[in-house]
Amino acid sequence: MSVIDAEPVAKASAIPYENRRTFAIISHPDAGKTTLTEKLLLSGGAIRAAGQVRARGERRRARSDWMKIEQERGISVSSSVMTFERDGIVFNLLDTPGHEDFSEDTYRTLTAVDAAIMVIDAAKGIEAQTRKLFEVCRLRDIPIITFVNKIDREGRHPLEALDEIQEALALDVTPMTWPVGMGSDFFGVYDWKNKLFRTSSGDRGGPFDTVKPVTGLDDEQLTGVVFDRVMEELTENVELGSEAYPEFDREAFLEGHMTPVFFGSALRDYGIDEVISFIARHGPSPHSQPATGRRILPGEDKVSGFVFKVQANMDPKHRDRIAFVRLCSGTFKRGMKLKHVRASKQIAVTAPIFFFAEEREIAETAYPGDVIGIPNHGQLRVGDTLTEGEDIHVTGLPAFAPEVLRRVRLSDTMRVKQMRQGLEDLAEEGLVQIFKPAIGSNWIVGVVGVLQLDVVVERLRQEYSTEIGFDAVQYNTARWVEADDDLVLKKFLEANRVNVANDRDDKPVFLFKSAWEVNYISEKNPDIRFRETREIV
Ligand code: G4P
Repeated sequence: MSVIDAEPVAKASAIPYENRRTFAIISHPDAGKTTLTEKLLLSGGAIRAAGQVRARGERRRARSDWMKIEQERGISVSSSVMTFERDGIVFNLLDTPGHEDFSEDTYRTLTAVDAAIMVIDAAKGIEAQTRKLFEVCRLRDIPIITFVNKIDREGRHPLEALDEIQEALALDVTPMTWPVGMGSDFFGVYDWKNKLFRTSSGDRGGPFDTVKPVTGLDDEQLTGVVFDRVMEELTENVELGSEAYPEFDREAFLEGHMTPVFFGSALRDYGIDEVISFIARHGPSPHSQPATGRRILPGEDKVSGFVFKVQANMDPKHRDRIAFVRLCSGTFKRGMKLKHVRASKQIAVTAPIFFFAEEREIAETAYPGDVIGIPNHGQLRVGDTLTEGEDIHVTGLPAFAPEVLRRVRLSDTMRVKQMRQGLEDLAEEGLVQIFKPAIGSNWIVGVVGVLQLDVVVERLRQEYSTEIGFDAVQYNTARWVEADDDLVLKKFLEANRVNVANDRDDKPVFLFKSAWEVNYISEKNPDIRFRETREIV
């Protein structure tokens, strides 16, 4: 369905990267991310019928926790990156993994986007997962567009919703639309800036299909159909809203200080067009990327990009992987040779993949902001940088200290090689971290949430035919250790061999029994830095 665009989108520019919008949707489970994704894709003509993305949401809910992630993974590959085009703008929607547990994978996906849509359930407000993901966006100053969903149901008062966002997230909010009634009184959405009433030609609250330009809140097209009590409330909201909240300020939005708020119903199509037109018009286009020594600008001639995600074992028969590369600069052409900076090797990218919703296609050309999938056999890892020759590393993809540690127990000691390979691969995907203790041979795995442990057991069983279990350890967190003086570090590590392990890249970590111990040992060793995150280079 096409609707009038009151705010014309940015004109298709001659510089393709300026027409790229690379974004993610963040939300708490059930707020409506899947429904919104589906509607956004439909609005861009990327999927033919509603239901393809939805099927995923349904499957997900029907299962036990690990199954949920496991099965989701099976189809998440093709939907990890969804590209669609509308009015000359190319949208790259990156799927943030849907697990309840925050994982590094989620964080890394957010390193590859330029903006995020935060979906909030109108009745529930800001929930735990939304807040966590929001904090990640804030860390990276990612501009956020807020979508208050499910206004066709009974929800909180719109002003209350706005205040909650403002207070809970310490952000300026600016309402872009207002709900015209909610729940059983739901009539549609009022776009107060452009004076448009978006409603249904059918029953009250039915699917959105009509845009009525109006002269104002006293227009007969509104007052003639909408209940008086709903009109009174709408008028009051618009009046109070214009006094209480600042005007939309593009700069503040792009800097991540202000969030425009759209009210809508993903299920009934309200608000989708406003959001997509807003992103098209107000950007942001691909940002510059922090790297060692300098920032990489999207307008640079030479191609560069970084791996933000690796998906292993898409086909269990072949140990193939896909590295998802976000392009930072230049114009990428299929067949190009790029330098894999960490390995100091050239790689020919002969079969890059573009992701169009459910299908995969071979990419011929890609621009900054785009994501390409590069099939490989394990050479490419998360954090790797690809360039046309320059020795530069993209920065800002940290590893996080795990909050749950367990020792790996192997049932059949003949399978130690498979187990290690499996754990290395899963660590590569960001599902677990592995630590190799200085004393003893059993690896310790670290995760951010316990749910991930079940997934590890299950995937090792299915993909590596290896049964493992986990034993409790006395540790509950880890810190990467560093010192300016190598000798000081060496002495410290030697004196503490019992509590020391190496991570996957042979970087030393200290395993702690408690938060108290972290403080105590840090105070006693002022020359040593105990870090909660480690930059992957
Ligand atoms: P998620 O990906 O964030 O987990 O949420 P999802 O889109 O799967 O939506 C969660 C539930 O909320 C679904 O209902 C969905 O239909 C419903 N929903 C999404 N947007 C709206 C909306 O604007 N209004 C209303 N009233 N409901 C909405 P379900 O019954 O759990 O699943 P299903 O049987 O509809 O698939």
